[in-house]
Amino acid sequence: MKNIAIIYGSSTDNTKNVARKIAKKLSAENVLLKDVSTVDFSDLANCSNIILGTSTWGLGDLQDDWNSRIPELQKVDLTGKTLAFFGLGDSSSYSDTFADGMGLLYEAIEGKGFKHVGETSTDGYSFDSSVAVKNGKFIGLALDEDNESNLTEQRLNAWIESIIPELQ
Ligand SMILES: Cc1cc2nc3c(=O)[nH]c(=O)nc-3n(C[C@H](O)[C@H](O)[C@H](O)COP(=O)(O)O)c2cc1C
Repeated sequence: MKNIAIIYGSSTDNTKNVARKIAKKLSAENVLLKDVSTVDFSDLANCSNIILGTSTWGLGDLQDDWNSRIPELQKVDLTGKTLAFFGLGDSSSYSDTFADGMGLLYEAIEGKGFKHVGETSTDGYSFDSSVAVKNGKFIGLALDEDNESNLTEQRLNAWIESIIPELQ
């Protein structure tokens, strides 16, 4: 049985809407879909798979609700769990900090013993710089609802297809 938690931070609902779509498309038996502002992190103890999503605000900042809860996330025992990330941004207006929040989220828990899945190619994106790019790839799924919402569905589908075999 696959237990999947999807935790998102969202200021104007874009990330929330994507999180809902992911939950639907995964059609797992047990999906815990939670806004980071209200999640009880102790619920993650029962989840083998965790998907974390955030948008980016300011100039390359993590979404506000995530900011205040990072210390709690860092206390969660992620050993042996499978983690994937998704991030929303605006690659046109914020080309130098595109989807940085996703990279910051990853960096906050990097090395905590989880299996990291769902990296994606930067092909097809147009931006100058992103903290979410490590070793030439996005550490998760980057989406741009401001300029490329027409690509979201196909990006989502391809990503979900790529992570499903990796989930435990
Ligand atoms: C004031 C402001 C600052 C932003 N800063 C960034 C940024 O630095 N990098 C980026 O990729 N997107 C940035 N964005 C775009 C948002 O991340 C994007 O609109 C996202 O879809 C919002 O998702 P949410 O509604 O889930 O918070 C910014 C948007 C606004 C309005």
